[in-house]
Amino acid sequence: MEVPGDKSISHRALLVAALARGTSTIHGLNRGIDVGRTRRVIAQLGAPVARDPNGIVKIEGYGYEGLGEAEDVLDAGNSGTTLRAALGICAALRGLFLLTGDASLRRRPMGRVVDPLRAMGASIEGRSGGAFAPLAVRGGELTGIDVELDVASAQTKTALLLAGLNATGTTRVTEPCQSRDHTERMLIASGVPLRTNRTTTSVARHREVRPLEHRIPGDISSAVFLLAAATVVPGSHLILARVGLNPTRIASLDALARMGARLEWEVAEEWCGEPSGSVRASHSQLTGTVIEGQEIPKLIDEIPMLAVLASQADGVTIVRDAAELRVKESDRIEAVVEGLLALGADAEALPDGLVIRGPTPLRGGVVDSRGDHRIALAFAVAGLIAKGGVEIEEWDCVDTSFPEFLDLLHRAQGLT
Ligand code: S3P
Repeated sequence: MEVPGDKSISHRALLVAALARGTSTIHGLNRGIDVGRTRRVIAQLGAPVARDPNGIVKIEGYGYEGLGEAEDVLDAGNSGTTLRAALGICAALRGLFLLTGDASLRRRPMGRVVDPLRAMGASIEGRSGGAFAPLAVRGGELTGIDVELDVASAQTKTALLLAGLNATGTTRVTEPCQSRDHTERMLIASGVPLRTNRTTTSVARHREVRPLEHRIPGDISSAVFLLAAATVVPGSHLILARVGLNPTRIASLDALARMGARLEWEVAEEWCGEPSGSVRASHSQLTGTVIEGQEIPKLIDEIPMLAVLASQADGVTIVRDAAELRVKESDRIEAVVEGLLALGADAEALPDGLVIRGPTPLRGGVVDSRGDHRIALAFAVAGLIAKGGVEIEEWDCVDTSFPEFLDLLHRAQGLT
């Protein structure tokens, strides 16, 4: 069984294809709503996208010169990657660009992207002095700078590197620890002479970005929900093929293995610098663990699922250094604790993480997903073992990243 294409890599494939000259061909583009937002944004900026009946996506790129003012507002919906990356691209284009998102995205911090783009020469206005969308960008000639990020963020890094591709001089981005490096791998695959040593990446103006021929690997952040289901449901064995195994994304597998999950993974192929392969999981007895430090950015999206699993593990699980969870699609620390308590688990919020004491049998109940796909999916897995089942409010939000979840779960259960 395969999971759908990686959401982060799908966004980047569209963005890099829009900056390339020529036709890019993408197999396995994620079909969720977030990636659809990026698809619409690049089309509005001048890079049309078409999907054929076999699901193969083609993007016509005309280089940075081929992109320009959109006729209407660029609406990133719920997608932080779309909004932040588009900010970087628009800042380096001539013209006026208006960017916004849904209620959740309009609450998320944008200063981390806006401030360095202003320092590069972009003129950006927005709510609270540019801290929040809606944002108005007057783009133009930018100058590369050295930026030290306070928080490791692949979205911020991506925005600045994509702006740097059309700026004079060198743009250098340093993170406190390494976040996912899909942008770096894809730009290198497109012939951009980018330099990186894990935490510092630099790029200079490069007008000849090559179009992509990409097979997007399955999304480890989606796979983890099915792997977690196999881990907690007695008698389960599951094999997932072609899962993305980029080392900056698989810390959740390491954490699960530390917790005693019977899990194996093996790289089998590579496309555009992205390794992929199979992951196997079986029902396992789990023990608590500590998740902290440099591991956090490499499993940030998997923490809600790991927290639900921790309620079934013997002992204490502590997550620290993860204050970023408070500014994701929802405040994921509060959402996870509230959901776990509603199901009878022992969970406590920390300013920058969580403490969960297990094992506790889960009882049925109602969980508010807060419109956050990862919360909805994590508690759907809880529903497989909770006595009486779990009702999830705003379930439709799973379409953000993983509309195929229930079909795949039923296939894994042998129900279809
Ligand atoms: C993403 C990066 C992460 C992650 C998000 C997708 C990306 O956010 O949480 O779901 O595609 O770059 P940050 O980079 O802001 O931590």
